[in-house]
Amino acid sequence: MGTVLPMSDVPASAPLAVLDAVPAHIALVDASGVIRLVNAAWRRFADGNGLLSAHCGVGEDYLRVCDAATGADRAEARRTAAGIRRVLSGERPSFVQDYPCHSPTQLAWFRMIVTPLDRGGLHGAVIMHVDVTERETQYQGLEAQFLQSQKMEAVGRLAGGVAHDFNNALQVIHAYGELIEEHVGQDPVALEYTRQILAAARRAAALTHQLLALSRKQVLRPVLFDLSTATREIEDMLRMTLGGEIRLIVERAASVGTIEADPGQIQQILINLAINARDAMPAGGELIISTSTRDIAREDLPAGEPFTPGPYAVLRVRDSGHGMDPATQARIFEPFFTTKAAGKGTGLGLSTVAGIVTQSKGFIRVQSAPGQGTAVDLFFPVVPGTAEELPSPALQHLPPRGGSETIFLVEDEHSLRTVVRQTLQDNGYRVLEAADGSAAIAVAADFAAPIDLLLTDIILPGFSGRSVANRLRRSRPDMRVIYMSGYADDFIADHGILDPDIVLLEKPFSLAHLLVNVRDTLDGHAAA
Ligand SMILES: Nc1ncnc2c1ncn2[C@@H]1O[C@H](COP(=O)(O)OP(=O)(O)OP(=O)(O)O)[C@@H](O)[C@H]1O
Ligand SMILES: [Mg+2]
Repeated sequence: MGTVLPMSDVPASAPLAVLDAVPAHIALVDASGVIRLVNAAWRRFADGNGLLSAHCGVGEDYLRVCDAATGADRAEARRTAAGIRRVLSGERPSFVQDYPCHSPTQLAWFRMIVTPLDRGGLHGAVIMHVDVTERETQYQGLEAQFLQSQKMEAVGRLAGGVAHDFNNALQVIHAYGELIEEHVGQDPVALEYTRQILAAARRAAALTHQLLALSRKQVLRPVLFDLSTATREIEDMLRMTLGGEIRLIVERAASVGTIEADPGQIQQILINLAINARDAMPAGGELIISTSTRDIAREDLPAGEPFTPGPYAVLRVRDSGHGMDPATQARIFEPFFTTKAAGKGTGLGLSTVAGIVTQSKGFIRVQSAPGQGTAVDLFFPVVPGTAEELPSPALQHLPPRGGSETIFLVEDEHSLRTVVRQTLQDNGYRVLEAADGSAAIAVAADFAAPIDLLLTDIILPGFSGRSVANRLRRSRPDMRVIYMSGYADDFIADHGILDPDIVLLEKPFSLAHLLVNVRDTLDGHAAA
C-alpha cells in the first residue's frame, strides 16, 4: 500500500488515472446516453476491434449505436439499450448482461454492468465491460463434459437393455451356424454361405461388446501386468492390420510399472488406435507405439475426476497421418461420431477406448493438428504389486475334449438350450436341464446322483442364475459353476470387475469354446 494522502491533497487527475488503471472497459454516459468519457482499457479494446467511430466513441450516443445494430447481435443490442434506459431513468438500480464478443481473432465473453452515476455534477451511468472469457470457457467445458456423460449413460442403458436378448439370439445363430458347418460336408457353396453367416454373427457380437465397453458395462478381467508386455503380445497382429505401406515402430521400455487392467482390452485399444492411424495415412507413413512411465503431479491431472497424483504407465500411439482440426478433435470421443464414409467407420472406436481406459481408472490425452499427425497418450496408474506373466494366446486353441460327467443346464431360451444340450451330449456328457430358476431347484431336488457342473444363464425368470447356484451348493458343495451371459451387469461388484473365482462364459460363445471351458472347469483349472 502506498501512502494515503488527505483527500484535499489528491491531485485532480487522480480519478482519471485510477480509471485508466482498471482492466475493465469503462465508459461514462450522460443522462441521454452519450458517451462522455472512456478509460484506457476501453480505448485499447475499441481500437483493436474497430468498434465505434472516432475518439473511441466519445461524443457518440451509445443507445443509438445499440438501436442501430443489425444482424445476429440485434436482439442482444436491443436488450442492452433497454437495460441502460432503465438505469438512466432510475427504474432499475443496475443492469447486468453476459454476452459473447467473438472477433475474427479471438473468442471472448464479456459481462456488462451498468450502474447509475449521480455525483459531482455528473448525471448518467457507468458502463463497464469485464472480460469473463476464462470463467465462461470453464463453464462451457463442464457443461459439455456433463452432456457427454449423459449421452454415454443413455447409450449404456440402451446397450445394456438389448445386450441380453440380442446376445442370446446371436448365440443361437452362431451355434446352429457351427453345427451346419460341421454337417454340410464338402459342398463348397453351402460351406461358404455358412461361413458368411458365422462371420456376420461374430461382427454383430463384436458390436454389442463395443457398445457395452464404451458405456463401461463390459465385464473386465483385470490382472496385474506390465503395460510393455501387453504391447509385445500383439505386435505381429498390428503389423498385419497395418499393411505394408505403414512402418510400425515399437519403442518399448523393458518395464513401465505394474498396472491393473484387462490385457485383452488393452489389446483391443491398440487395435482401435492402429486402425484409426492406418485410416489417417492412406498413402502410408509411420506409426510409433511407445511405453514409458511418467510422474504426474496433481495440477497435471484432468480436472473434475478423482485421479491420484503419482507414477502412471503411459502408452503412446503416434502417427504421421493427416491429423485433425480442433472441431473434429472436440468430438472424437462421442459415440457414433465419425468423419469416415458410410460403411467405413461406425464412430465407436475411440468411445470404446475411452470407456475401457476410464474403467481402468486411467485417462487420455490427444494431440493433433491438420497435417501434423496425431498422438494419443493413455495414462494408467501404476499400482503396487508384482506383474503376472500374461498367458500365451495359443492356449485357447487347444482342441476341445468331452467327458462323462453330469452337467445341469439352466437356460430359458429354448433354442439355445437345445443346441448347448446337444453339443454336450454329443461329447459324452450327461445333461439335466431346466428353463428357469424354480424349475432348476425342483429338478435338482429330484436328482439324487451328483451334479458335477451347473451351467446357467445369469438372467433367468424367477431366481437368478446366481441364487440357483447358491441354493444348490448348500447340498452340493463340490458342484462347479459356469455362468453364461452377454451382459453381466447385475453380476459385477464394482466398475465392471469380475470376481476372479467366477467362471463367466460370455455370449455369444463358440461351441468349441464352451467345451474347453466345461472341461477346464471340471478339471479345476481357472477357465475363461
Ligand atoms: N489417428 C487419427 N488421425 C486422424 N483422425 C483421427 C484419428 N483417430 C481418430 N480420428 C478421427 O476421429 C473420428 C472418430 O474415431 P473413432 O475411432 O471413434 O471412429 P471411426 O474410426 O470413425 O469408426 P470406427 O472406429 O468405429 O470404425 C474418426 O472418424 C476420425 O475423424
Ligand atoms: Mg476408429
